[in-house]
Amino acid sequence: MRILVTGGAGFVGSNLSLAFKRANPDADVIAADNLKRRGSELNLPRLRAGGVRFEHADIRDPNDLAALGTMDLLIECSAEPSVQAGYGGNPAYLIDTNLRGTLNCLEAARAHDAAFVFLSTSRVYPIEPLRALPFETAERRLALPAGASGPGWSERGIAEDFPLAGHRSLYGATKLSSEQFIEEYRAAFGLKAIINRCGVLAGPWQMGKVDQGFMTLWAARHLYGGSLSYNGFGGHGHQVRDVLHVEDLFDLIVRQLDRLEIAAQGVWNVGGGTGNAVSLKELSHACATRSGKFIDIGVNPDTNPADIPWFITDAGRVGQSFGWRPERSVDAVLDDIFEWLTAERATLEPILT
Ligand SMILES: NC(=O)c1ccc[n+]([C@@H]2O[C@H](COP(=O)([O-])OP(=O)(O)OC[C@H]3O[C@@H](n4cnc5c(N)ncnc54)[C@H](O)[C@@H]3O)[C@@H](O)[C@H]2O)c1
Repeated sequence: MRILVTGGAGFVGSNLSLAFKRANPDADVIAADNLKRRGSELNLPRLRAGGVRFEHADIRDPNDLAALGTMDLLIECSAEPSVQAGYGGNPAYLIDTNLRGTLNCLEAARAHDAAFVFLSTSRVYPIEPLRALPFETAERRLALPAGASGPGWSERGIAEDFPLAGHRSLYGATKLSSEQFIEEYRAAFGLKAIINRCGVLAGPWQMGKVDQGFMTLWAARHLYGGSLSYNGFGGHGHQVRDVLHVEDLFDLIVRQLDRLEIAAQGVWNVGGGTGNAVSLKELSHACATRSGKFIDIGVNPDTNPADIPWFITDAGRVGQSFGWRPERSVDAVLDDIFEWLTAERATLEPILT
């Protein structure tokens, strides 16, 4: 068994590479990455210690992928993962990596008849319809009214059939376009490909920054110092996301690979769900309790064009189909992040403050 994880030095890629190696000690697991993301290089010793081979490769270059050799499974975790990417500048890197690069990975999987796992995103759902949902403000967070529902949404969150018309951010567009090509590769070449539309993923080894990885960012600023602000939607910190521990994602992918014929159809919404939802304000409280530091959080009422006030994944379909549910709560995710930030402070502090 040969498993290639592109973006394998990143947060999700490194955790999945190591988890696959632990679960399949005889497998050859290769993590390929161009180390574009600051902090990904910190994962290299960890990968080595876990028996995962690292290869420097850029998915924008098909020759780099060809040089990696054969594979039975390709897990595509490389990306420019920020929803803010490309605004106010040149979106070329975003498009070249997230769309062109994903197509190169698809070609590599086709050439070797490998199964393919694609980490899509909840950000394929369009911004304006999400903003238009009838939110109420509860004490510290936005919420939908009890019993309210509409096409593809309910109190349980956003489901796979939420209508797709409208703009969704440059990042979301690269992911939705990739999904459409995967669908074509399934039909044209019989590619066995799983498309997981993930909500927020979190856990140790995520190099959180303002535009991506807010759980780590919030924890690190509370622990190490530095400023934070509630950006957008009036600056109240009431925006909500559901959070999934990266180890819960691994558990799901294993189950999906066991039932690949079913998994390689359609798309799956994957996330922590209502039980794992948290607002920024609630997160501040949880971080202050853990760190003993109450930060004076700034207020920036201006809303970024790519931002949404609320997203909770309705992961009911994937849960029922694979007998899966998230095992780790938001508290457990945060505990793991604090433990990691404390243990690795010397190396992480320069990157996360
Ligand atoms: N983290 C989340 O909350 C989340 C949510 C939904 C979807 N996703 C998706 O999951 C995947 C992994 O995200 P992540 O959080 O681990 O991000 P990450 O930034 O930690 O990891 C991505 C890795 O890809 C590498 N990379 C970037 N451009 C590359 C290129 N051209 N060639 C090779 N490697 C390249 C980076 O150096 C980095 O190590 C991405 O596809 C992302 O869109 C993440």
